[in-house]
This record gives sequence, C-alpha cells and structure tokens, in this order.
Amino acid sequence: MCGIVGYVGSRQAVPLLLEGLRRLEYRGYDSAGVAVVRDGLHLVRRVGPVANLAKAVAVEPPGGTGIGHTRWATHGVVAEPNAHPHLDSTSRIAVVHNAIIENHAAILALLEQEGIQFRSETDTEVLPHLIRKFYQGDPVEAVRAALLLVQGTYGIAVAFADHPDVLIAARNGSPLVLGKGEGETFLASDPQALAGHARQVMYLEDREIVLITAEAWDITRLDGVRITHALEELATELVWSGKGSYAHHMLKEIHEQPESLRRCLSGRVVLDQGGAKLGGLDLPPSEIANITRVGLLGCGTSFHASLVGAAAMENLARIPAFAEVASEFRHRNPVIDQGALFLAVSQSGETADTLGAIREVQLKGGRVMGVVNSVGSSIARTCGHGVYVHSGPEIAVASTKAFTSQVAALLVAGLMFGRTRILGLHEGQSFGRELLGVPELVERYLDAPGAIDAAAELVSGGKYVFFFGRGVSHAVAMEGALKLKEVAYVPCMSYPAAEMKHGPIALIDANTPVVAVVPDDTMRDKTLSNVQEVKARGARIIIVHTEGDVYAAALADVSIPVPRTHSSLISPLVTVLPLQLIAYRAGIMLDRDIDRPRNLAKSVTVE
Ligand code: F6R
Repeated sequence: MCGIVGYVGSRQAVPLLLEGLRRLEYRGYDSAGVAVVRDGLHLVRRVGPVANLAKAVAVEPPGGTGIGHTRWATHGVVAEPNAHPHLDSTSRIAVVHNAIIENHAAILALLEQEGIQFRSETDTEVLPHLIRKFYQGDPVEAVRAALLLVQGTYGIAVAFADHPDVLIAARNGSPLVLGKGEGETFLASDPQALAGHARQVMYLEDREIVLITAEAWDITRLDGVRITHALEELATELVWSGKGSYAHHMLKEIHEQPESLRRCLSGRVVLDQGGAKLGGLDLPPSEIANITRVGLLGCGTSFHASLVGAAAMENLARIPAFAEVASEFRHRNPVIDQGALFLAVSQSGETADTLGAIREVQLKGGRVMGVVNSVGSSIARTCGHGVYVHSGPEIAVASTKAFTSQVAALLVAGLMFGRTRILGLHEGQSFGRELLGVPELVERYLDAPGAIDAAAELVSGGKYVFFFGRGVSHAVAMEGALKLKEVAYVPCMSYPAAEMKHGPIALIDANTPVVAVVPDDTMRDKTLSNVQEVKARGARIIIVHTEGDVYAAALADVSIPVPRTHSSLISPLVTVLPLQLIAYRAGIMLDRDIDRPRNLAKSVTVE
C-alpha cells in the first residue's frame, strides 16, 4: 500500500528518493510523487509506475531535503491531483501521508469556511492546510497543533520551504523508521527502503513527532514530552534482493521455499526431547499446561495458515483452538478469556485489520503473541513477544513462501505445546523428524513439479474454478483459490469437499474445472467420493494427491502427485506447492502482471 520516503543530507535528494520509492513498489500503488526543498518547494507527481515519475524529474530539482510517496488510492480516484505530496495553499508546506484521517470531512468543512480551496479528493489534503493554519515559524509546533485535531491513523512526513534543512515526521498507527547515514538521515515507512543506506535505525512509536536534520533527530510525544529511543541494527535479512535468474519474484519465492523452510525450522525442533523451542513463545511449562484455548488471527493467506495452526493446536496439544479473520474479530466484541493465548499471524507485520484485532485482545487484558515475517514490524513490536517465521523478504504481492513458513512455525508451536501437554517422547520425535525432512520433500517436488501447465490451461479457460479439500486440505484449497484469483484474475470458489452437495454442486456443468486437494490421509476416501460426485456431472478434475496413489491419479483429468507426508498436519507444506505454481502459470498464460496484480497491495495498512 502507500509508501513514504524522506531524505535530509548533502546529496541530491531526488535519486535517493526515487530509489527508495522503487524499493517500495512491491507494496502496491497507483501513483507516485516527490517534493524537494531548495528555494521553495519543487513538486512532481505522476500516475502509474515510479518509472513515469523518474522520467518527469529527469531535470532534477536541486536539493538535499525531500519527501516521496507511492499512493494506493483510498479516498479519491487514481489521478495526479490526488497523488502525494499535497501542498498548502501557499505551496510552502508539502505533506505525504499513509493511512486514513477519519475526521477529514469535519476538518475540510472548517477549512473551507475559512476560505481554503481544496485541489484533491483525498483525506490527506486537510493536513498541509491545517499545518499552515497553525504555522508561526516553528514547524514542529505547527505539525503538533494540527495533529491534535486529527482523528485516525497516520504516518506523515512534512517538508517546509522555510526550513530547507529539516523534515518533520509523525506516526499514529502507521509505521515510520529513521536510518542514520554519514551526515545524512533517511526516513521510510518500510525498512526495506533503507537497506544499503543505513545500518542503524530507529522506529518511531505512536503519537510521536520527530524533527529530522542531516546529523540528528529530536523526538517529542504529541503531548510535548521529549523522549529518546535507542538505535537498533537494521535486520540483516533486509538485503535488497532482485529476481535473480527468475522471470518474476513470485516464481523465485516459490523456489526459495526449501531454504526459507530450513531457516524457519532451524534450531527449533529439539529431537532428543521430542519437543521444540521457540524463543519468543517462551512460556514456562506450567503456563502452557494451563492455556485454555488458542485463537489465531490473520487475514488472507495468513488466515489460511492460521487454520492449519488451529488444527495443529487441537491435534498435537489438545488445546481448543480456532482461527478467525482478523478484520471481523474485533468488531464482534469477542470474549477474551484470561487463560487463552492469541497468535497474530502476518507476513508484513503491518496489516491494519490484524493490528486492530491485537489491540482488542490487549484492551481486554488478553495475551497475544506475533507470528510474523517482517522483523521490527508494527505487529512484532505491538505484541512484544512472538516468533519470526524467517521466510526472508517477500516481494511478490501474492504470498507464497510466507505461507509455508507460517504453517511450519505454527506446527513447531503445536509440537512445543503438545509435548508439554500430551505428546509422548516418541510421538514428539517422529513428528519433529518428519517436520525437519520437509525442506527436502519441497525441494524434490519443485525439481519435478508434474503437469502444472496442463492444469493451468484447464483453469485459465474456465468461467470459474472450484477448489476443494477437507480438514487442513480445505485450508490449502482456500489458499489455492486465493492465489488463482489474485494472480490470474480467474473467479474461484473454495469449499470443504462435502459441502459441495449442499448447494454449490448446482454450478457444476460440463467442463467446470475442479481442483481437489486429496493427500493420503484419513479423509482421502471421503474426498474422492466427493470428486466422483462432481465428475459424474461433467467437471474436469485436477487432483493433487500423494505420489503412488494410482486410484486418485486415475480419477483425474490432470493428476499432480506430491511427496508423501505421514502426518496430515504436515501435508499443506507440500500440497500447496502445485497450487502456487498453477496460479503462476495461469497468470502467465493470461498475460497478467504477476508480481503486482491490479488493485492489490502487499501491505494492507488500512482497515
Ligand atoms: C495473499 C496475500 C494477502 C495477505 C493478507 C495479509 O497472497 O498476500 O491475502 O496474506 O493481506 O497480509 P499479512 O500476512 O502481511 O498480514
């Protein structure tokens, strides 16, 4: 979603701002802009990719202080006047903003009464005008006074023509990080933009304002109290990674899964004890024994991983568990039982819906821990405790390697809790051993993935596609359907296989593509009966099944064998792989923008 960059120093700001914006492109956006201070404010904005903006600023406005932004439209259509930065009416103050000003309509009405004319349809534009209203020479105090009137969430950066050597930034619910260079300071909404420029960073907290110069920064809270934050080392994982020899980030990330799974599992399964160690979930055994239920909260792909996590908690540890879409959770006034443990699952660590759910748990005195990929992200920081899944930076908008790492981390958590509660040494050891063998199975499958193109042709020609499975394979079916929607824009539905006959089967006619996820587990026979039911009505069947299952293979129009896993809880780590590849290949066949599908954002920072 929207991205912010800023620079104060002696170098030309524009190339640095453009580089930062390019690094934020993966988050999804529809327009971009920069404002640079030198003898006034120079503003350039363009709809479309950062490359359009780069062409437009070919003659660089000189200047060593500037702000930049990539916008993902929320209030107002995709158009240049709605792109950021936004200026006040004297064009002396420029603002970039992430997230949403909830009371912008009231502020706008107030400012219009005072004669201000608005030039955009955005909520953001109230900010430069409001800051101007309070500006009497001190930029920090003007921003503070403006923000005291604002309700909602924001990460903002503000440049003043009158103060060419400073930037002001502030946050409330939308991340900002500052990076220290040699005689220069960088600002960004995503630490990915700072990699290579700053080794030491400082994360701003909610309701804080910072005055940034080339040499230093000065933080005060919105209430005026001065504070300091320690510098942190920028995570070493944040090395800017290109596509290597792969055509797309998505394909590269699919193929990185053996390695990302090794990283996730490394040092966490303790075979001689038949258990596991997850530093961030360091609950003493007596507390683990007393957990009354586990609630897993996430969105999209992270919700699908949460469904597998809930199954792991129930089956391995016999703790009642549920997974819920984070965006719904906090709006239903949930009961937060004091013995419960909540896990917030997120790749980006910035998803506003998931952050909202976390705050609901915390507000009601509950315990919530993060299962997060992005180190230092808002969710990791808000939870304080939790585990990193270590899949490494995921650049393609469609999540792939983060899903398998989330599932693996949740299975490790299930093993850890299970061993404390009900699992015997040998059961724990055999589960742990199988988990440690998964990266090799994934590698073996990806080396010879089977009839992916035949499956991709079938689904890309369909009006709509059904995905089904049972138990954890239903979570995989949901994930496969989500991938195909996102990457190939093919309408899909996913159902627990047995539900088909309760209604959806009415939609099956000759040639409807159906993708069935049927590993060789206790649900296999029943799922294959459900396959027979749709086959009898003319559906074209793709079956993802365990290698050697000749009966399942014979039922399919396209059969895709995957390596055997003995525990059905582990099967999603292999059955999801062909579904990721089918979505990728279907996207290629339909000529889609694979890494940046339309309308989507990598980091969904609005509710
Ligand atoms: C799917 C996808 C989204 C995200 C969802 C949650 O490919 O990328 O559905 O899974 O927006 O994002 P995180 O995991 O960053 O909280």
